[in-house]
Amino acid sequence: MPSKPLVVGNWKMNHDYVEALHLTQQIGVVLKNKSREHVEIAVAPPSVDLRSVSSIIESERIPISLAAQHVSMFDNGAHTGEISVAMLKRLGVKSVIVGHSERRSMYGQTDDIVASTAQTAARGGLEVLLCCGENLDARDAGEHFSFVSNQIALALDGFEKKNLELLTIAYEPIWAIGTGRTANSEQVAEMMAHIRLELNSRGMSDTRVLYGGSVTGENAAELLTSGQAGGFLVGGASLKVESFMAIVEAVDDCYAKNR
Ligand code: 13P
Repeated sequence: MPSKPLVVGNWKMNHDYVEALHLTQQIGVVLKNKSREHVEIAVAPPSVDLRSVSSIIESERIPISLAAQHVSMFDNGAHTGEISVAMLKRLGVKSVIVGHSERRSMYGQTDDIVASTAQTAARGGLEVLLCCGENLDARDAGEHFSFVSNQIALALDGFEKKNLELLTIAYEPIWAIGTGRTANSEQVAEMMAHIRLELNSRGMSDTRVLYGGSVTGENAAELLTSGQAGGFLVGGASLKVESFMAIVEAVDDCYAKNR
């Protein structure tokens, strides 16, 4: 493993700012009682919650970082509804999710837009959590490796070499997202190996590769050890403190043992 595992909670369109504050505080309390030094933790609340979550992280010194779920591919200007990299940075946001399959399929985020957004974010100093992952048709046709290679190649097209260290890849097979149907550890391991080969060929051997898709406290250890994931991008299970911290705990224990 190149570095400590990373666990990111993607809250998607859940939790208003009051609920977001509450959940962040709860995470803080758990971490105060028992620190988790072998894992990095981030949460990605909805944009309107970022200000309050950022304040509570800072004032209560909660050892987690803040991620955004989306950012504009433009720096500023007439882009109604969009949020810029500079605005996120000002709020203390450290990273941003780019190319999530929900934005690709529901909000017209093409490979070109994914590439431009990743470049804009990194140029402005945000870490990029770049999502990739095949749909069920590609998996059933045995085309999952080429599907993912292609997504990565297109996303990195034009990405500045000096910013490569800001990238983390998140492999999220679409058929495993929110379905309760986790990819098994062999499927995850072979895709992790495949993505690492792709990254090595681009001089990115230290880049973290996360897995996402129905991760829980029960399957996290197996996906980390046998699956060789470098951490997780967690959806549903990140919405409650118990289920999110169960994953954090499993990852922390596992990394401490296998290091
Ligand atoms: P679930 O953990 O709910 O399957 O969501 C995964 C995901 O899309 C995280 O970005």
